[in-house]
Amino acid sequence: MKAKIIAPSLLSADFTNLKKQLLDLQNVGCKLFHCDVMDGYFVPNISFGPSIISQIHKSTTVTLDTHLMISNPDKYISNFSKAGSSFITVHYEACENILATIELIKNENVKVGISIKPDTPVSVLENIIDKVDLILIMSVHPGFGGQSFIPSSLNKIIEVKSLIEKNNLNTIIEVDGGINFENIKLVSDAGADIFVAGNTIFKNENIVEAYLSLLKLIS
Ligand code: DX5
Ligand code: ZN
Repeated sequence: MKAKIIAPSLLSADFTNLKKQLLDLQNVGCKLFHCDVMDGYFVPNISFGPSIISQIHKSTTVTLDTHLMISNPDKYISNFSKAGSSFITVHYEACENILATIELIKNENVKVGISIKPDTPVSVLENIIDKVDLILIMSVHPGFGGQSFIPSSLNKIIEVKSLIEKNNLNTIIEVDGGINFENIKLVSDAGADIFVAGNTIFKNENIVEAYLSLLKLIS
């Protein structure tokens, strides 16, 4: 069994106090930070880009998981790799030639992730799942933190898990959106390996305690 990992989504962090928050999480063993990049076209929101990710990379030793919610991701993959991302995930829906995009990410020597939005069926992954390291299932419509988990995402996790097993693969399943203390165990039982959590961690008055409590629920 793969180790289960909580990836705090920095989108919900306090950016005036970002370094302290990140180091507090690093100091209790947090292994992955989820960086949500939004361009105002692919999703109706704008967040941050490679320069912020590069600063985060220089300030912490935690692995960076970059989730590109942008149109035309090919153009920026190298910038996000240079900034210090260890995982780069693009949206299936944003790619004109998904195989070419996968190759571009692989050529940067970083792990490749493909994400699907809530309305995109798992079947689109059938021909590409053996070429990637990670599948990111969006359990909310991408764009904003703090939304409610879409229950049908559980079935999608189960479907992806069975696709992975059918093909004898070791692909990581990451789930993103609306994860909280009540649903994380269900998401874990469905087969997820990485759990992105934004509001549940950063809107808690004690972010370290929230992180550790989430981890306990899946350990
Ligand atoms: C949404 C982002 C998520 C978001 C998760 O588009 O991809 O990573 O920050 O935030 P919560 O956990 O608050 O739903
Ligand atoms: Zn995300």
